[in-house]
Amino acid sequence: MYSKPAPPQAGDKRHAPATVRNRAAILAALRGHLPAGGTVLEVASGSGEHACHFAAALAPLRWQPTDTDPAALRSIEAWRAEADSPGPLPARHLDCLAANWPVQDLSDLAAVVAINLLHISPWSVTGALFSQAAAILPATGVVFVYGPFRRGDDFISAGNRAFDATLRGQDPAWGLRDVDAVVAVAETAGWRPRATLTMPANNLSLVFGR
Ligand SMILES: C[S@@+](CC[C@H](N)C(=O)[O-])C[C@H]1O[C@@H](n2cnc3c(N)ncnc32)[C@H](O)[C@@H]1O
Repeated sequence: MYSKPAPPQAGDKRHAPATVRNRAAILAALRGHLPAGGTVLEVASGSGEHACHFAAALAPLRWQPTDTDPAALRSIEAWRAEADSPGPLPARHLDCLAANWPVQDLSDLAAVVAINLLHISPWSVTGALFSQAAAILPATGVVFVYGPFRRGDDFISAGNRAFDATLRGQDPAWGLRDVDAVVAVAETAGWRPRATLTMPANNLSLVFGR
């Protein structure tokens, strides 16, 4: 189970400038591919800015933000305290690599969303994301992932190639994922690719269903 987050304190709020730049395009992609009702489980919510924007824009869908980093959870709560209505649900701790995700109380889960996670985490997180999503979502469920990807050795842009090198310098387990490898892992967990959407700034959204 999950424990209730503490009330936000001054200084908890983080700002990720990219969320302001990419949220309109991601919202349009979500609108086209999420189920009409239920709760969206967002993993790796980061600052919480996406969560607040999407919760207000996509109601009556409910938005459940999560992250593994306590500072991110505090930031989500700080943004949530000022969010337009309806805001997201209270942030909860969720590590994608955990054996059991703390979602037993969310009876109407409809989708799992991961934005800018797969390239900033070990490859094992990608596998865990799809296998856990298969375990917790109904047959109508959707998995939506967004970020920079590569297609084999094609990094889509010079900027993405440089970003990949920077990430691998920070942590050899990180780096842009090959779309075909992501699809293969998803298929092993029972997911079928439903859409590959070209997004601004050389990003992609990958949508999976069953
Ligand atoms: C680049 S940030 C993206 C945040 C947000 N989605 C965005 O686009 O601004 C990556 C996030 O992934 C989270 N993260 C890394 N490993 C994770 C894991 N194993 N489970 C859940 N979240 C994780 C980090 O704490 C961080 O908040």
